[in-house]
Amino acid sequence: MIKVLFVCLGNICRSPSAEGAFRKLVEEQGLLDQIEIDSAGTHAYHVGSPPDDRAQQAASRRGIDMSGMRGRRVDEGDFYIFDYVLAMDESNEYHLREMAPAEQIHKIELFLNYAPERSEIEVPDPYYGGHTGFEQVLDMIEDASEGLLTDIKSRL
Ligand code: 4NP
Repeated sequence: MIKVLFVCLGNICRSPSAEGAFRKLVEEQGLLDQIEIDSAGTHAYHVGSPPDDRAQQAASRRGIDMSGMRGRRVDEGDFYIFDYVLAMDESNEYHLREMAPAEQIHKIELFLNYAPERSEIEVPDPYYGGHTGFEQVLDMIEDASEGLLTDIKSRL
């Protein structure tokens, strides 16, 4: 079993979108029994909350149901459980590095490392913007999800 954790700041916009989009891809390829997927935030502002309505609407237009997800914060145990800890932006990556036990830091990387064809290195925070930001976030997430799954398949 390979375990993947997506991380953003609030765990209500980008990382649950990545969790949903990546799970859909993994399901389409029949690999759900071999890959475990979760998401969390570096901060606790939205613990217990469902994903942002705009994120849910954008995801639902692409066949992704996020309604059952609830926000949670990253905790130290996550760094032992998960094989990939994927940060949406450099600030998330910085906070993860601060939290992680030294011997687990190597698991932390930027999610867009898996979309080398894109010029962006971060999935930008869409929280204070409009609906188009959420579409752009999903476009980036879908590209990086393909690259991530290729990487994981080489390990299965
Ligand atoms: P996320 O977006 O990190 O993609 O879930 C945000 C959600 C909430 C806040 C910031 C970003 N906030 O400041 O409450």
